[in-house]
Amino acid sequence: MDFCKIDKFQRKIKRIIITKDEIKAAVKKAGEIINSLYDGKPILLISILKGSFIFLSDLCREITVPCEIGFIAAKSYYKDTQSSGIVNITLDIQQDISKYHVIIVEDIVDTGRTLNDVAKLIKSRNPISFKVITLLDKPDRRIVDFDVDYSLFTIPDVFVVGYGLDYGEYYRNLPYIAEFSE
Ligand code: IMP
Ligand code: MG
Repeated sequence: MDFCKIDKFQRKIKRIIITKDEIKAAVKKAGEIINSLYDGKPILLISILKGSFIFLSDLCREITVPCEIGFIAAKSYYKDTQSSGIVNITLDIQQDISKYHVIIVEDIVDTGRTLNDVAKLIKSRNPISFKVITLLDKPDRRIVDFDVDYSLFTIPDVFVVGYGLDYGEYYRNLPYIAEFSE
């Protein structure tokens, strides 16, 4: 094992901005809200891969209303910390959306481009209702005006990793949200 490399890797984590416990409490509360809003309604949680996979897996275990899960993959960030401005749908959902109350589960709303494109696509398939929940919101970076229904945390304009969010595909497995610096 190359310990110099590991040290360099860890030094890029500047500070923890949201702890594991803070995330846990906020996810629990979000689950309770979903349970009260959707009692008796068929829900389809649509996770935008890959960033939201951990948020989705924790959130769905706080949900007691019967729900289905679908995945959509949209890519707009590549190897750097700047948005490419191009959103590609690389994996689509199989379910007939018109039968469900859809809740999009996103990791972070940054420029708003990804959600704007995904929302357009999903809405064109006529879900019974449509809402968006995001773990993080970075409003200072917004380019496309997009209204999120529920955001667990609002963060400043810093690049963050952990709890599903990556830098060059690394750091997704951190149990907290941390500020990252190259
Ligand atoms: P958008 O700019 O709102 O379209 O965000 C696109 C995607 O970029 C998000 O869904 C995240 O996966 C990723 N992203 C945006 N900001 C960050 C960040 O601070 N850290 C890691 N990924 C990010
Ligand atoms: Mg994402």
